[in-house]
Amino acid sequence: MLRAKHILVGISGGIAAYKIPELIRHLRKAGADVRVCTTPNALEFVTELTLRTLSGAPVYSDVFAAINSHSTEHISLPEWADMMVVAPATANVLAKMAHGIADDALTTTFCTTLGAGKPIVIAPAMNDNMYNSPATQASLNTLRSWANVRVLDCAEGELACGTSGKGRMQEPDVIAEAVRQSLTPQDLLGRHVLITAGPTREKIDPVRYISNYSSGKMGTALALACARRGAHVTLIAGPMRVMPDFTAYPLVNVVHVESAREMHEAALAAWPTADTAVLCAAVADFAPAETAPEKLKKQPGQTEMLLRLTLNPDIAAALGGSKRTGQRIIGFALETQNEEANALRKMHDKGLDFIVLNSLQDAGAGFGTDTNKVTIYALSEQKRTLPLMSKQAVAEQIVSACIS
Ligand code: CTP
Repeated sequence: MLRAKHILVGISGGIAAYKIPELIRHLRKAGADVRVCTTPNALEFVTELTLRTLSGAPVYSDVFAAINSHSTEHISLPEWADMMVVAPATANVLAKMAHGIADDALTTTFCTTLGAGKPIVIAPAMNDNMYNSPATQASLNTLRSWANVRVLDCAEGELACGTSGKGRMQEPDVIAEAVRQSLTPQDLLGRHVLITAGPTREKIDPVRYISNYSSGKMGTALALACARRGAHVTLIAGPMRVMPDFTAYPLVNVVHVESAREMHEAALAAWPTADTAVLCAAVADFAPAETAPEKLKKQPGQTEMLLRLTLNPDIAAALGGSKRTGQRIIGFALETQNEEANALRKMHDKGLDFIVLNSLQDAGAGFGTDTNKVTIYALSEQKRTLPLMSKQAVAEQIVSACIS
């Protein structure tokens, strides 16, 4: 997604500048071309050599040095850039940027990029009192009022000055995710997508449960793909080991559930305001008829154990049965035999508009892997088979084919 994108990184003089080499590495690893401009003070915190080495390009930090060599980087860099990220942005630089003061390499470049209408992401960092001061808040409000500027909230926590509060710069991963979003067309703005993901756990007793191998990776990849395109996402997540960091996306609401019944309840609560449901969860079809209040002990001489199970609610069928005009549902089917026939039957029986089939017969597809190979069936009888690709790439294709 960042392959061959031109990203301008502007650094000002705050202690969080030490984290920017990490951000530059992250962006370059993702395939982006990076150029760096700084205030003079930024180079007190991070060396020009580090920035030049990691970005693979000269650092623009001295307006007059540039003029002496007859170059005008504050004009040419914004022309070259697809977007600009200013991190860390100190209170001083926020105030300058908000008022069009352009007196160094960073602020002149910012001003030109702003005027060119390119996307700009700003990650402020400072002491909490400085952050809360009316002057800084006024600067932030001004910057936030410009259409092509996104200002990230500061994080709360330990601050370099020894206190604790709101003023920490967001971590490089979060800033990189905001950069990604700024370069993604926002074609799902105003949409609300409900996503179920992961396995469910059905309790036998306080220490045991019935579950399955679902990792939740496909569902969380779908949530990320929708969020990057501007959607409001309600992610109803069964227990999963790894959850992506959605800090960059205030419109993502993660609802943690454990059992199929809890997932059903959460899905029914979100459905009336959603326009799309993506039902990616591997919901346990049956749950123990009773959950024992104490750990079940084996009895002397006992050689078998019978567990009575009862049917769980079918979330897909419940949403399909209460679908309003304009709402659509995308289901998933993981099959081991008669794949196509089973998938199509599920699409029709549950009132779905699309079904995404993955077959356990395909190497690299299914539970736990980072890749997937799927075929998307539409009610209109269209069918599209995608090659083996990363779950994130599959998610983007599903969003394009079924949601946008
Ligand atoms: N699904 C659901 N609630 C359930 C069971 C399934 O929402 N209780 C959804 C899944 O999230 C998926 C689709 O229905 O989108 C198909 O799930 P799958 O497990 O393949 O189908 P089942 O109806 O459970 O059929 P079977 O397990 O018998 O193959």
